[in-house]
Amino acid sequence: MEETIIILDFGSQYTQLIARRVRELNVYCEIHPFNKIPEKKENIKGVILSGSPFSVYDKGAPRPNLKELKKNYPVLGVCYGAQLLALEDGAEMIHSTIREYGRANIGYVNYENPLMKGVSSGSQVWMSHGDTITHLPKTYEPIASTEDVQVAGFWMKDHNIFGLQFHPEVYHSVEGKLILENYLVNVCKCSQSWTPISFIEDSVNGLVKQLGNDKVVLGLSGGVDSSVAAMLLHRAIGKNLHCIFVDNGLLRKNEFETVLQQYEGLGLNVKGVDAKERFLGNLKEATDPEKKRKIIGSTFIDVFDEEAHKIKDVKWLAQGTIYPDVIESVSVNGPSVTIKSHHNVGGLPAKMKMKVVEPLRTLFKDEVRVIGSALKMPKDILSRHPFPGPGLGIRILGDITAEKVRILQEVDQLYIEGLKKNDLYDKVWQAGAILLPIQSVGVMGDERTYENVVALRAVGSTDGMTADWSHLPYEFLAKISSDIINKVKGVNRVVYDISSKPPSTIEWE
Ligand code: XMP
Repeated sequence: MEETIIILDFGSQYTQLIARRVRELNVYCEIHPFNKIPEKKENIKGVILSGSPFSVYDKGAPRPNLKELKKNYPVLGVCYGAQLLALEDGAEMIHSTIREYGRANIGYVNYENPLMKGVSSGSQVWMSHGDTITHLPKTYEPIASTEDVQVAGFWMKDHNIFGLQFHPEVYHSVEGKLILENYLVNVCKCSQSWTPISFIEDSVNGLVKQLGNDKVVLGLSGGVDSSVAAMLLHRAIGKNLHCIFVDNGLLRKNEFETVLQQYEGLGLNVKGVDAKERFLGNLKEATDPEKKRKIIGSTFIDVFDEEAHKIKDVKWLAQGTIYPDVIESVSVNGPSVTIKSHHNVGGLPAKMKMKVVEPLRTLFKDEVRVIGSALKMPKDILSRHPFPGPGLGIRILGDITAEKVRILQEVDQLYIEGLKKNDLYDKVWQAGAILLPIQSVGVMGDERTYENVVALRAVGSTDGMTADWSHLPYEFLAKISSDIINKVKGVNRVVYDISSKPPSTIEWE
């Protein structure tokens, strides 16, 4: 079994960041809800307790019993996690109504301590907490202090129990990664052998065993996740992987043809299905965004199901689900546990009654890209912006017609090509054009026009949960605006969306 670190999640916004840092240090880790305390297992090398939006003194704050855990594993508590560790053994803390937030510098540091080896005095760390430990139990000892916080770090003397009041996982804690590495290597004795290549080997071997000579069907979307999932499966089972790529008529201009060619070039066994008319027919006169989503989703399921049943004896449905889709998240409104559903393909497995295989289930998005690149997939696929399942269907506000799709596809193509030509494509996280359901007055030559308005959107983000509008250069926006108005018949006005998420969303519908 693979060496694993378990991160118990108490609801901090930084929990996933801890996991990513641990993986960057080549150690496999998993995030579990705080109340799923792991039983003693050989392959679990250590446990990290995350921060939390709660104060340890809040009513309803998650306070699991950690006694067994401390006996069984080396434990590192971060912020709230640190306070919990110490509180259980009699630490005292003050609860401040003001949260201490931001930079601080380590003054005292105990270099002898295995967690603090190599950390420099004066090193910048990032604090974000309401409670502060004022008094440690006798069995504990401070290992780091800042000017304001005497117990910025502690350990339980001669035990593998450590706490940090600051967040080593954030970028602003300059030597945070070193501290985490100290924990993984000096304390947990991890061998740091988890790499993209080792992942590919392990996962291909696992898939060969799991799938044997069975046939698998997978829906390709043109996006990174389903493409990398397909490549991994292809390595494992070759021609037994049957891919289906559906043209729902709401893809980008020429995307169906180009992407299909790319997939065939990669050696995938892929069938392109032209279902444009069917989607447009079903969408006729639908205007409500959620209704449109439902129609597109259920039409996709029908088309996919029909196609999959043409493959004789297919037993498995493969999906490109990634780790953030399956982490059991801790609700900040209480210690209840909810599970996110995968909004892309919801309903498909139920309808198809097949066994599901998800080769990327344990990976973060950036890791999927690394794996894809180790599998020698073209950069074109790996650096593609996210594109919603319902495609242009939720970027044509209101009802959808073939003519509106044509207009938006042309606008979108000029915009995306423009971003690429000006080296801006890789600098934004996602970009797209939106066709607004209004006309505005314009003048072209000597003629008054009364035509469509399109909005351009580009955002920076890391996961789509929050996003900021991209500050694209004015010169670029000016050039694109005139290109669009001059070249796309039916558009006489271009606007740029300067809203961030929250409170706006990335898509307009
Ligand atoms: P929002 O608009 O919620 O978008 O800020 C966040 C990210 O999710 C994508 N998105 C979708 N993806 N089906 C999808 O597969 C959908 O219905 C859907 N709605 C939004 C959006 O493009 C962005 O990347």
